Amino acid sequence: MRIVEGKKHRELSPEAFAELAAGFTKVALDLGTGDGSFVLRRARAEAETLCIGLDAVAEAMAESARRARAKPAKGGAANALYIVGRAEALPPELAGRCDEITVNYPWGSLLKAVTEPLPDVLAGLAACAKAGARVALLINLAPFQDPEQRDRLGLSELDAEIAAERLTPAYEAAGLKITEIETLLGDLPERTSWGRRLVVGSGRGTLVIESKKL
Ligand SMILES: C[S@@+](CC[C@H](N)C(=O)[O-])C[C@H]1O[C@@H](n2cnc3c(N)ncnc32)[C@H](O)[C@@H]1O
Repeated sequence: MRIVEGKKHRELSPEAFAELAAGFTKVALDLGTGDGSFVLRRARAEAETLCIGLDAVAEAMAESARRARAKPAKGGAANALYIVGRAEALPPELAGRCDEITVNYPWGSLLKAVTEPLPDVLAGLAACAKAGARVALLINLAPFQDPEQRDRLGLSELDAEIAAERLTPAYEAAGLKITEIETLLGDLPERTSWGRRLVVGSGRGTLVIESKKL
């Protein structure tokens, strides 16, 4: 896997990753992590958890990856790991490793993959989870409410009712049991950078999907 360390990237071998992960009681993966600040905050708060942020865009994670490498007294967190990768081809080293997976405010191909959903991508995501792992998604509903934007992004209609009908069986086929679907207006369950940008003070709805790996 390709990992980000500030502006530089380097290869981390499967053996080195396994050795690193073995030093923690939990592994949490944030898919489509963006600027990685959510992962850095969590890593600072949970020293026993290996907190992994994965995104297709390495540059966006560079600053958080750089901060994570500082000494703990200066806000560093050696348990934060940033991986450059795509949801469509997740590193095989992650298979069956994660106790928790979050997908916060996805866009582009990731948004399409989790909402259509695209079975192969969803199965790849589910394959990273351990049995019983929590898989939680926060989805901005605004693009689904504008037919023009929906068409441009190649999305189908979506609200809590449609999600229950369309996503429940598809997620179950991928090995994920949906336990809760809820729409939040204005509330922000996770203060991620995009969550704050999209939701706070906007009245935009967030679809919360909680699921469990079977
Ligand atoms: C709106 S941002 C949200 C970032 C962060 N989760 C947050 O809440 O601040 C969506 C992120 O998803 C990433 N993304 C989109 N499609 C992806 C894919 N197929 N694989 C990995 N990351 C993807 C983008 O690069 C972007 O950083």
